[in-house]
Parts: sequence; structure tokens; C-alpha cells
Amino acid sequence: MHIFTGTAQEWDHKAALEIVQQIKDKPDTVLGLATGSTPVNMYRRLIEMHRAGQVSFSKVKTFNLDEYVGIPREHPCSYYYFMQENLFSDIDIPPESVSLPDGNAPDLEEECRRYEKKIADSGGIDLQVLGIGHNGHIGFNEPNTPFESVTGIVDLTQSTIKANSRFFESEDQVPRQAVSMGIKTIMHARKIILLAKGADKADIIQKALQGPITPEVPASVLQLHPNLLVFLDNEAAARL
Ligand code: PGA
Repeated sequence: MHIFTGTAQEWDHKAALEIVQQIKDKPDTVLGLATGSTPVNMYRRLIEMHRAGQVSFSKVKTFNLDEYVGIPREHPCSYYYFMQENLFSDIDIPPESVSLPDGNAPDLEEECRRYEKKIADSGGIDLQVLGIGHNGHIGFNEPNTPFESVTGIVDLTQSTIKANSRFFESEDQVPRQAVSMGIKTIMHARKIILLAKGADKADIIQKALQGPITPEVPASVLQLHPNLLVFLDNEAAARL
């Protein structure tokens, strides 16, 4: 595991450079992507580097970690919408090269199988970007999800519903379920970048990176990954 710390700006820049370098090394990289507040500025840096001619996404394929069940793609809180707004509409990635789970599929179980297979058929994820929830979730894999899990339908915990309600008008509008890559799906990525910012993540970062490896803290499984880079701002790193 390699841990990089610094100011939030240094961090955004370094993490974006890591992705750009990956794409330079392998132009048809398969990227796993995350939503949430944490990666937004890093995505901005990627857009800037793309505009400056430093990186092209024309051969890249992406798979997002997760999507809510039951809100339309056009809804401003859907992860599809988030990705369009925060990255895809400002880079040269072909629309057919981006994948997110379909949280409105008529048969969600089938959708989970399809998504897992599509990732495998693409050759697997080269570089996965991950945030971390306050309860240690990665993707929407909440505490006590088995480490062997693959893409599935998950129930969000009350703490995640509350945390994510900041994006919705009220807490009762937050979907109760999502489709998420499983922990095994995530661990299969050849390289993982874990991102965290802010004092409110310091506790869970300490537990995830230095505590016991246990399904009670899903992100603790990352200690077992052979190629993990962790980018933390100084506040999130404060308890290490
Ligand atoms: P955040 O979410 O980046 O908005 O803090 C991270 C997560 O819940 O995985």
C-alpha cells in the first residue's frame, strides 16, 4: 500500500495524474469510477488536462461502481447524471464506452449478472477509483457485506441514506436500494486508488487501513490488495 497525503489541491492533482499516466501507458484502459463529493475536483483536473491536450479518453472504457434503484437516469441525483455532469460531457469518451448499472432494469437480478459479465468481458478493470463512506462502505457495500460478493442489489443503511440526503430535497426521497459492484468485483481490479478528504473521514480511514480486516469495515479488505494507492488530504490522514 502506498499512501500520499497533502493539501486537497495537491491531492486532486496527484490523483488525476495517476489516472492520466495509466491512460498514457494503456490508451484502452478500463477505468472503474466513483461518484460522491470526493472525486469531483479530481474529475475537474482530468477535464482540464484533457482540454490542454494531455490526455484522450477516446479508447478508454469506464464502469461505475453503483447506481440507485428506481430513479430515472435524467434525475439530477442519479449517478448517470452525476457522471455526465462531472466528467463525461467534458471529455472525448464515446458514449457507448461508459457503463453504469441500470437501476431501472425490469429484472434487476439479471442486470447485476449482465453488469458483472460486461466487466469481465472487457478484460477486467485496470484502475478502480474508490471513495469511502463514513461506515467504511466501498461502492454501496455496507458493513457486513461478504468479501466474496459480486455485483448485486443492496439495501442502503440508515447512515448512508442520511449522508446522501444532502443531495436530495429530503431524506425520504433517497432511494433505499442500489445496484453495486461487489467487494470481490472491486478487489479484482488490477490497481485501486482510494480517495478520502476531510476530518470526518479520519476515523474510518484509520480503521480501514490500520484496523483488523473485517467485513464490519468493508474498506479494510483493501489491505489485502496487492496494488493499492491511497490519496488523503491532511485532515483525512490525521489519525494514521
Ligand atoms: P463522498 O462519498 O465522496 O460523498 O464522501 C463517499 C462514499 O460514500 O463512498
